Amino acid sequence: MKLFKKNNAVAIDGPAGSGKSTISRLVAEKLGFFCVDTGAMYRALTLKVMRKNIDFSDEEKIAALSKDMDLILSPPETGSTWMRVVLDGEDISKEIRSLEVTGNVKYVAKIARVRGNLVELQREMVRGLGGAVMEGRDIGTVVLPDAEYKFYVDASFFERVERRFSELKAKGTPTTRKEVEEDLKARDHTDKTREVGALKKADDAVYIDTTDLSIEEVVRVIIGYVKKT
Ligand code: DC
Repeated sequence: MKLFKKNNAVAIDGPAGSGKSTISRLVAEKLGFFCVDTGAMYRALTLKVMRKNIDFSDEEKIAALSKDMDLILSPPETGSTWMRVVLDGEDISKEIRSLEVTGNVKYVAKIARVRGNLVELQREMVRGLGGAVMEGRDIGTVVLPDAEYKFYVDASFFERVERRFSELKAKGTPTTRKEVEEDLKARDHTDKTREVGALKKADDAVYIDTTDLSIEEVVRVIIGYVKKT
């Protein structure tokens, strides 16, 4: 059975803590596609800016850096949730998940020229791969408006805080529920009010509320849509 008629693209968007990274990776595995985590690309650029001691207000320099990123994304190592990210030959998979990078990514993600360059790179990746599951904030709306399947995964604020808090606790990162709550609130605000590439459900995306669903159930729902249509 041929599941994809138009193009081999699945766009998955949603807020932080919605579980979309794990979900996207599993959906890609089941469909035999590569999964592109676009958040990792914004994170990699943020780390590069930090390491080069470039001021976050220097949009010119940051835009120039985003133009030629030597970036390789590959599937995670066994036991890890996150994609393996290699920048300029160095494995930075762990560094880009640090609280510092997470806190600074917003300065880089709001620069229109940076977004333009990364969106172009993301489209090239999908073309080069012959299709992909791509996850982020603006995939269904900006990066791949013609994606054959689009999903917007969400969960209640309370549930997203719980998930993020448990994840940090499991990793041994010292934090409190209140801190996680404030961080998520701030990230939601930045994501939804960005002038370019703001987080938004595409009109033709399927909305999935994952609050009461396990990861496996969400994956089943998504695969169900792909097989049905
Ligand atoms: O999905 P994530 O939390 O790893 O993403 C990191 C940051 O990158 C997030 O704060 C928003 C930004 N981002 C973006 O602006 N556009 C995307 N397509 C993906 C992520």
